[in-house]
Amino acid sequence: CGIVGYIGGDPAAPFLLQGLEKLEYRGYDSAGVAVYDGTSLRVVKAKGRLQVLKGLIHDGKDVPGTVGIGHTRWATHGAPSDINSHPQVSDSGKFAVVHNGIIENYLALKQHLIRRGVSFVSETDTEVVAQLLEYYYKGDIMDAVIKVLQKVEGSYALGIICADKPDQLVAVRKDSPLIIGLGQGENFIASDVPAILSRTRDIYRLNDNEIAIIQREGVRIYDMDKELIPKEPVHVEWDVTAAEKGGYEHFMAKEIMEQPKAVRDTISPRIKDGRIVLDNITLTADQLKTFRKIFIVACGSAYHVGMVAKYVLEKMTRIPVEVDVASEFRYREPIIDEKVLVLVISQSGETADTLAAMREAKRLGARTLSIVNVVGSSIANESDDVIYTWAGPEIAVATTKAYSTQLAVVYLLAIYMADLLGCLTAEEYAAYLTELQALPDKIEKILQNRENIQYLASQHFNAKDVFFIGRNLDYAMSLEGSLKLKEISYIHSDAYAAGELKHGTISLVEDGTLVIALATHQNLFDKMMSNVKEVKARGAVVLGMTTENNTQIEQVTDHVFYIPQTCDVMLPSLTVIPLQLFAYYVASMKGCDIDKPRNLAKSVTVE
Ligand code: G6P
Repeated sequence: CGIVGYIGGDPAAPFLLQGLEKLEYRGYDSAGVAVYDGTSLRVVKAKGRLQVLKGLIHDGKDVPGTVGIGHTRWATHGAPSDINSHPQVSDSGKFAVVHNGIIENYLALKQHLIRRGVSFVSETDTEVVAQLLEYYYKGDIMDAVIKVLQKVEGSYALGIICADKPDQLVAVRKDSPLIIGLGQGENFIASDVPAILSRTRDIYRLNDNEIAIIQREGVRIYDMDKELIPKEPVHVEWDVTAAEKGGYEHFMAKEIMEQPKAVRDTISPRIKDGRIVLDNITLTADQLKTFRKIFIVACGSAYHVGMVAKYVLEKMTRIPVEVDVASEFRYREPIIDEKVLVLVISQSGETADTLAAMREAKRLGARTLSIVNVVGSSIANESDDVIYTWAGPEIAVATTKAYSTQLAVVYLLAIYMADLLGCLTAEEYAAYLTELQALPDKIEKILQNRENIQYLASQHFNAKDVFFIGRNLDYAMSLEGSLKLKEISYIHSDAYAAGELKHGTISLVEDGTLVIALATHQNLFDKMMSNVKEVKARGAVVLGMTTENNTQIEQVTDHVFYIPQTCDVMLPSLTVIPLQLFAYYVASMKGCDIDKPRNLAKSVTVE
């Protein structure tokens, strides 16, 4: 969910709507605002896209007032509806609350309040917070907030306003991101930077259990004992245009096209005089030699980067690697001790399952290293070491440039580690660096050829089922290609290790079934061609992908897309580009809402 808040001299509602628009990628089942209009809190909310709310209040013009909070929701408790939308309001209308996260013990608290005569209108856990605030409020908001925080269990980022104290906003968080924007005569709260970038780039990042009192002229941050906490503002480097579409129809298209730059920005600063320099990494060669195993934990596409990293790290460092989706890892009693390195991959740095998996790994004694895009996010802060991907803000729900930059960091790390472990000769080291530095131009070249992919998409956008097959790293790429396609185009698709298809799934292949066969690895090319023939014999239409000059593929597939050559381990950086483009064009031809696919949210901060 997305939270935004404003206090200052300007009308609040138009700014809240603007901010919510930038946060819509975090959830878009419903939206709402609460603004103090001079006498009371005016709350307007509506099921559906932000557009519906905007229409209701004429872009904010109908809701006067200069202090307010807003929310865009990704439903957890209670189906999307007007009533369940946020802000949630207390019985008398005194408190309005926006919330991201889950209050786990909300039922017990709700029953407790109902027994004391409080009446509830929604099914949400958030309403409990609003009601509890009113219940405990005796004239001092902070006292009430502290009381509430002592009662609630779970995760939350909360924005609160109170009709009795309209000169302040209150913000608190635990395990869910929240930032405070610092302006001139105005201040802000938001769950993410893009919401406030148009007004300020100076922020505070709130830590767990810190309570911020935000007023027009300043911000004070307290701990749970009401002691003031000194805090240094952070200056965000992202500029306003980074969070705008810049002429593209969709953020996803813009972000796909930004990949050469994003990958270059991630690699270049880390290569100095022919050596990889990972500043601030405290992991030493001696420590590295003690690791018996590397675990990789992540969710979604970041997990797919982990799948690539498994092949790459094992090949280059000869340390066994296990990859887990974070939500599985944390509950399966993984065998972890101090001889284990846990690599955590996350664009947002806030994904609840990934964060919890990392904490569990730390608790068990592992060393943690994270690959994160958002500077200062929870995972970045709490891991022993962090390597940032310099992708800039990623807005489209379906990740592209974050994925590519995560891959780039995996290569940097693999070469760095292999070198420290003595697994590379000087020539091999230099050759890998040369290939790595050449990737951005090769990605650019594929992007220039995008019309071919657009044509292929136009031939197949009506497909019902699509199978992606590949071996080794191409299998890892099949997973990502399939996810990209299904998440934005809603076409059913699945990914298989090509050799595994004949053990069951091939029964689904019939006349006209679309199979996308990735065959970029020379040493597995013949094996892949056998698998392609197997599906062709059952009537499949096959789109093949391989490296330039590998033209024999044309004898067995119906269409081919060629990517430039690079060393084996780095092929995924190139393979992924046509897969992203294919998903994008198919979804676009189907008229899908590409940047905000149904039911999905970019940053999932609930378990
Ligand atoms: C969500 C997004 C995915 C993303 C995953 C992990 O499910 O829709 O695109 O890969 O979260 O997000 P993270 O921020 O941890 O990379």
